Amino acid sequence: MGMYNEKVMEHFTNPRNAGTMENPDAVGSYGSPVCGDMMEISLKIEDNVIVDAKFRTFGCGSAIASSSVATDMIKGKTLEEALALTNQNFVDELGGLPGAKIHCSVLSEQAIKLAIYNYAKEKGLVLEGLKDFDPNEEHDHE
Ligand code: FES
Repeated sequence: MGMYNEKVMEHFTNPRNAGTMENPDAVGSYGSPVCGDMMEISLKIEDNVIVDAKFRTFGCGSAIASSSVATDMIKGKTLEEALALTNQNFVDELGGLPGAKIHCSVLSEQAIKLAIYNYAKEKGLVLEGLKDFDPNEEHDHE
């Protein structure tokens, strides 16, 4: 199977939460400064809890696997809990990614944060987890 473990391959071949939804409460999309690929996350939010999440990506297999676990992990979480998750949490959940593919998991983290940022802005919510978040910053993690 080469450089990808079985869990990564499983999420790549059978991604959870792929697609879009009708009338999402929040959408965030993020383009990677590393590879130019894109990720879009749509969220349904009720009482500050993420009740559904979907993703679309123009990205590689690692981006698909990362967003599959990421969208699963944020469902049922509060906005603050979801903001506390980083791409490393998604990589850990996958049992690891090859070093050169870690940046692909950053797409999921940033698209989720942007979706929540857009939601908070629209609703006038002040969220602790967004206090250092700059939507215009290029996140160039390796
Ligand atoms: Fe671009 Fe993986 S190479 S998301």
